[in-house]
Formats: sequence, structure tokens, C-alpha cells
Amino acid sequence: MNIKIRIDELRRLLNRYNYEYYIEDNSTVSDQEFDDLLHELIRLENENPEYKSDDSPTVRVGTVILDKFEKVTHDIPMMSLNNAFNEDDLYAFDERVRKVVSDVTYNVELKIDGLAGSLKFENGSLVLGATRGNGVIGENITSNLRTVKSIPLSIDYDNNLEVRGEVFMSKKSFDKSNTERRNLSQEEFKNPRNAAAGSVRQLDSKVAASRNLDMFIYSVISPVNHGLSTHIESLDFARKLGFKVNPLSKKCKTIEEVIEYINIYTEKRNDLKYEIDGIVIKVDELALYDVIGYTAKSPKWAIAYKFPAEEVITKINSITLQVGRTGQITPVANLDPVMVQGSTVSRATLHNEDYISEKDIRENDYVVIRKAGDIIPEVVRIVLERRTSESKKFSMISKCPVCNEDTSRKDGEVDLYCVNPFCDAKTIEGLIHFASRKAMAIEGLGDRIIEQFYNDNLIKTIDDIYMLEKHRMDLVVKEGFGQKSITKLLDSIEASKNNNLDKFLFGLGIRHVGEKVSKVLATKFKDIENFYELTKEELTDVDEIGEVIADSVISYFNDDKNKELLLKLKLLGLNMLYTSNVVLKEEFEGKTFVLTGKLELYKRDEAKALIESLGGKVSGSVSKKTSFVVAGTDAGSKLTKANQLGVKVISEQDFKDLLDR
Ligand code: IVH
Repeated sequence: MNIKIRIDELRRLLNRYNYEYYIEDNSTVSDQEFDDLLHELIRLENENPEYKSDDSPTVRVGTVILDKFEKVTHDIPMMSLNNAFNEDDLYAFDERVRKVVSDVTYNVELKIDGLAGSLKFENGSLVLGATRGNGVIGENITSNLRTVKSIPLSIDYDNNLEVRGEVFMSKKSFDKSNTERRNLSQEEFKNPRNAAAGSVRQLDSKVAASRNLDMFIYSVISPVNHGLSTHIESLDFARKLGFKVNPLSKKCKTIEEVIEYINIYTEKRNDLKYEIDGIVIKVDELALYDVIGYTAKSPKWAIAYKFPAEEVITKINSITLQVGRTGQITPVANLDPVMVQGSTVSRATLHNEDYISEKDIRENDYVVIRKAGDIIPEVVRIVLERRTSESKKFSMISKCPVCNEDTSRKDGEVDLYCVNPFCDAKTIEGLIHFASRKAMAIEGLGDRIIEQFYNDNLIKTIDDIYMLEKHRMDLVVKEGFGQKSITKLLDSIEASKNNNLDKFLFGLGIRHVGEKVSKVLATKFKDIENFYELTKEELTDVDEIGEVIADSVISYFNDDKNKELLLKLKLLGLNMLYTSNVVLKEEFEGKTFVLTGKLELYKRDEAKALIESLGGKVSGSVSKKTSFVVAGTDAGSKLTKANQLGVKVISEQDFKDLLDR
């Protein structure tokens, strides 16, 4: 058969099956049949590169690796929406709209929690996929968006077309990605929004492809050019062209109907396969847009109702104790699993004995929980009305739950500690900390593996990590690892030997020496050999080092067991020197930055690392000493404070320009 004809046929089939699966949720072929066709197409395209094409389904597996993302200026700025937080705000919005136009129809839609994206098509082919950026300039992420299966690579429409929507990660893909990341001891994504934002900014589109992103289209740009007169018509138009459009939107004639819809989805949001953070209300008649008008940042014909932080009731089945790296014993509530803001919660920290008695928390009680700071679940209060005779008071034990040795609670402190230096729990947590991402970042040596190796006597102390190579064969036979994954693990252990001194110091888990103090100490004293002789004065002379930290450092380096460990590690070839990778840049040197609001061009960690690598500092709060406040979208009190104090506020784009200068 003619090769070109077969290639076209395969593309047609794959596009159809893809549409059925990702948009209609109704597959007519098996995964195996789909994969066979895809592989046949990949082979034919590789053998006949002249037929390769950017809108072939083969680009969905990800092929492109970029150095950086190009900037793109949006033809029409990507605005954001004003927020409503309660019914009063919604009535006020309705009143404002009706003051201008008395007869109006609304379309209410789910506010998908992801990031805004724009797609441009020319002659029916996807030519550009971009992020919102600062609304005026975004980034070209076409190669990553081409891997998103619900985005058509070609459409049956020849006019130029731009559509916009929300790129997101489903709850299922989010849980799957986090399980994988946990197993690789990579930092877990905080929530599906962060996961999606991080994924579209991957320079390697294969990585983006592996994240299973999705996209709902929520607007057609310049709709009048496409003969459209209402927003609902434009959604139907997009749907017919093959875009995925959320089916749960509703036409409403009154604000009361809008509120009813909001109440329904406030209840139902946990049952959805993706996260939503609110409801968007839009005027339906496009001709009214200009009449109602715009502010500098947002249209006046739409508003976003934001859900309050979700609180959920569940039962505490038991309270158990967890022993941390420092020996701190923390009570944890084991809950009937419940969904809170998109992920399943089955445990919540109860902090300490005092916290439990203050809130009178008991086993078998029902409690209200919510996520604090987006991720860590906390118990807000108990539901006293639901307490039964099964409710059981919790009493703190006096022995360590792991090693059964004595515990101590210092005068005036709330926390209980295991005093046994050889407690298994402490040792395992210490090893986990050493290998963790912010310390030595040994990929593949996560919590579960360390615990397994510890119990199998393969890793008992930090130096054992660097002697794991000797057990290569045991690992294949006994632990059932594949050759490939062992080689990967041993390679990352080997690579960690070259880490800078601050990472190593942090990994040692010296009490009171966190990530920041490790950096300060490493920068100042440079070589581990210098630490043995340090006096309290020398240490407290350093900014940010107080007496408690100084005492802890001195006692760590005076301990013979620690000295022995450090010597062994040195002989095993670990780097113990600090090499500065700071290249001072005038705009950053000695300056203090505060990052606030939602950043889109950089991850927070990334922005912080960049500032520090150029000689600047990052602070969490605004004061007169702050040099710059970098304000992303939805910046709140820090921005207000900066304005009050007259501190210079720059946008994320200005920040990028400073970096690029
Ligand atoms: S309409 C003029 N509709 O919410 C702005 N936005 O500030 C048009 N979002 O980042 C936005 N779901 O990406 C619209 N159904 C929806 C949406 C939605 C999520 C996001 C959007 C933007 C933010 C609003």
C-alpha cells in the first residue's frame, strides 16, 4: 500500500480513537489496538521522515526538548476575573450589570483549578499554545500542549482561531504522579494546580506527556469573527470543532438561579474528577460585553465566585504516636478517609498532649478537618453533638512507642521526646532526612526503601548508604530490584557525593540546623574540618546564629561517634567543602526580595534559588528593609503593606527582565 495513504489513515484512526477516549469518554478500541496503530505510525514516520508533521498524533508522546520558553505577546490580553466570596457580592454584581442592561442572561460554569492557556489555530492546525504569563506576555508551551490528548492538533476549520481555557490535572493523575514522586523521593506536588503549572513548564515535552494533563476550553476569542452572538453559542462552536468543553455549565435568567447552581456544586465538588475552586458567572449576550465594559484587569460582565476553604467531618478511629528524627513524639489522628479539596485525607497531626486536651479530642470522636496552608490536614474542632459512649480519652504514654525506652518533656515545653539515641524510629527518620530532596537528594532512596533496607540490615547508618554497592547482587536476588533500577539508585548515591557542603550539613540532621542555617554555616566556615574547632563566640558572631544553634553545633562536632561518622564519609569520597555558585549581579547583590501572590513564570523555589544565586536574599515578610516585592496575581496583604511602606513593587515580568538584564 502507498505509505502516505497508510500514514494518513493511521492518523485519522488515532485521532478518532483519541477523541472518543479523551473527549467523549467512550472508547471503541482496546489499549492494545491503539498502541499497535500508534507504533506502526511512529515506525512509518521514522522510516519516512519527509511525512513527519506537527499535527500527527505521534507528537503527543512528547519529542521536543527546549533550552527555554520563548515569550509570546497575546494579541488580546488574557484578563483575570474579579472575585465574589458570598451572596452579597453576587447580588452586588447582578445589580451592577442590570444598571447597564436590564435584560440579561448568565452562563454559569465550573471554575477549573488549573492554569489559563491559549491555543491558536491556522489553516486548521495548532500553531501555538501559550501560558497567560502576566496577561500581556506569556510563554510558548506549544510542544507541551501538543502532548495533551484532549487538545485537537488539527480541526476542520480554515479561519484563524484562538480559544482559551484551563489546563489542569485530574485528581486521579495527580494521585498517580504523587505516588511515583514519593517512590522516587521527589517532593510531592502540593495540589493539582501546582502539578499542572509545573508540568506545562517542563523543557522536555516527554515529561509533560507523562503527566496526563487535560484542558477545558472556556472561551473563543473574537467570537463575532466566527459568526457567534452568545457565549453559549461559542462554547457549542468549540465543542463541535473537537475541543473539550465542560458539560456542566448552565444558562440562568436570575441571580437566584446562579446561587442555586453554586449551592449544588459546593456540595458536589468532591464528586468531580478534577478540582474546582469556584464558579464563574458570565453574561451570555456577546453584544453586551462592550456596553457593560472592562476595568484595567478584568471584564465587568463576569465574576468568579470562590469557594471558602473546605471543612469536612470525619471520625477519628484511633490516635497513634509517631517518633520523628529528633525523637519528638507526635500524636496522630487516624481518620476514616475523606476527600478534602481534591485529595484523600486519612491522617491529621494532633501536635502534642496539650493540643489534644485543649480541644478535648478523643478516639471515636467526630471532628471537623480542613487543610491548613493548602496541604497539611488539621483538626479544627470536635463535633460534640456526635460524641457517643464509644468516645475514648487518649492518654500519652511515658515510654517511647517504638523502642520502649524513657521519654522526657522539658519544663515549660509541650513536646515529648524519646531519649534513646539508638531508637530505630529516630535512626530511620534520620536516614530518610539525609537522602531527602532538600538534603542530599538521592533519587530512588525514598521513605519505604530506606525502611526496608534498614530492616534488612543493609543500611543502618549514613555511611552504609555509600557502601550499598557491595550489596548489588543481594538487592537483585533478595529485594527483587531490576538491574536497571539498582544501577539508577547506585548512580544517584554516587552523584550525591559531590553535593555542596550546605546540603551535606543539612542532611546530618544537627538539631536546630535547618536548611537556611546550614547554608549560612557552610558559606561562612567553608570546610567541615573548620567545624571541629569552632567556639561559641565565633558562631554567635555570625548573623542568624544564636546561642541555641551554637551549642547544638559544638556538641555535634565534639561527639566521638559523629567524628567517626564524618571521617568514614570523608574516606568514602564525600565532598565536604563549600564552593560558592553565587555570581553576584548588581541588581540582586545585598537586596532583599519578598515574593507574593500567584507566580506563573517561576516556581517559588526556583525564583528563590535564582535570587540567592545572584547574591540576593528572600524574606517572608515586608518591612522597610525590603528592596523589592515581586507581586504575582491575586497578591494580598504583603502587596498592601509594600504600598503603605513605599517599598518598590515589581511584576513577575519585571523580575524576569531584571534576571535577563
Ligand atoms: S473565564 C477574562 N471561565 O480562572 C477572563 N475562567 O481569573 C476569562 N478559570 O485564570 C476567564 N475556569 O484561567 C473563565 N470556566 C472558566 C474558568 C476560568 C477556570 C480560570 C482562568 C483564570 C481565572 C479567573
